[in-house]
Amino acid sequence: MNIGIPKEIKPQEQRVGLTPAAVQQLTNQGHHLLVETGAGLGSGFPDSAYEKAGAVIVAGHEDVFAKAEFIIKVKEPLRAEYGLLRPHHLLFTYLHLAASWELTEGLMRSGATCVAYETVEAKGKLPLLEPMSEIAGRMSALVGAYHLGGPHGGGGVLLSGVPGVAPGKVVVLGGGTAGVNAARMAAGLGADVSILELDHERMRFLDTTLPGVTTLYSTESALRQLLPDVDLLVGAVLVPGARAPRLVTREMLRLMKPGSVLVDIAVDQGGCVETTRPTTHSSPTYVEEGVVHYCVANMPGAYARTATEALTNVTYKYAEAIANLGLDKACDKLPSLASGLNVANGKIVSPVVAEAFPQHSAHSLAGLRQ
Ligand SMILES: NC(=O)c1ccc[n+]([C@@H]2O[C@H](COP(=O)([O-])OP(=O)(O)OC[C@H]3O[C@@H](n4cnc5c(N)ncnc54)[C@H](O)[C@@H]3O)[C@@H](O)[C@H]2O)c1
Repeated sequence: MNIGIPKEIKPQEQRVGLTPAAVQQLTNQGHHLLVETGAGLGSGFPDSAYEKAGAVIVAGHEDVFAKAEFIIKVKEPLRAEYGLLRPHHLLFTYLHLAASWELTEGLMRSGATCVAYETVEAKGKLPLLEPMSEIAGRMSALVGAYHLGGPHGGGGVLLSGVPGVAPGKVVVLGGGTAGVNAARMAAGLGADVSILELDHERMRFLDTTLPGVTTLYSTESALRQLLPDVDLLVGAVLVPGARAPRLVTREMLRLMKPGSVLVDIAVDQGGCVETTRPTTHSSPTYVEEGVVHYCVANMPGAYARTATEALTNVTYKYAEAIANLGLDKACDKLPSLASGLNVANGKIVSPVVAEAFPQHSAHSLAGLRQ
């Protein structure tokens, strides 16, 4: 199969659809890989690494789409890319269609078959989203510790403490994938860490896997008691399919010390603190009520090398199955892939996406894998 890896054109996106190692595995199986020049540079993979893996380097963005039938990307196509997609294309990437009718319509008009990473569901989990939560969770402790430094706007607390000085206090809201990684990293730095959760099974898991970290049932009063002593507050809650629950109001934020830090990872779902608003890597923080807010909506973008490798680790088996078997048979082999199908033959075929656009519900939900 002719497989295209375009360079991402979304501002500040440095990840790439496949690593050279994954490209090598596909070329070994007889597939033709077309990689746009410079596609991997932001992740530390030069063209020469792809050439060594057997890929052909293609100069133009349009050429990759014109020459390949299976397009593997990271982010959703931008407006300039809708017209490059044709009915024979199979697109495999993050899409988040429920957030944009314009994009959904653009993909429907293209006639392409579009499979979204974020809706591939296996055993109640979203395996192609998990690595990004892992990275964001681990990053939250690092950026939180950094911004606690006086020159970075913080109150000057070193999270680890030193002999004779107590460590800083970290509270993590939500002990899911991002939360457990935030807590693990903060505990590794030597901080005093508590996690607030609602799910009892999850709290048992956290309790046994993170010795030294305190688990607490998430209530407003528990949080109010903790806030005056918190140095770093990490927001990592998620209620699937819903806006993030707002656990900290502006009035509650005033309980925190001046110079303390909030990292609201859940900003992409609206944030779990009233004062959260999305920021970017080029201007990541702002101060509200004396608290430094770090609310970058695409945190893993800062560590593109790790993010690309982690993403390829989870997408590769699906990409390989599609390349070797075609989409229908790949779905038979890996049934979780079927839930990734969002748009095909000009129609929305994902119930989740269709629900987001009830005004367009005439678009067929039938023929999920036609
Ligand atoms: N900013 C970024 O770059 C970035 C990157 C990756 C993920 N995220 C976001 O991080 C958030 C967390 O993702 P995840 O993969 O860890 O989700 P997850 O489903 O693994 O974990 C969420 C946890 O929150 C808990 N929870 C729900 N309501 C709660 C409450 N009221 N109090 C305490 N806990 C509660 C759930 O029980 C669950 O354990 C999501 O909004 C996700 O989109 C952001």
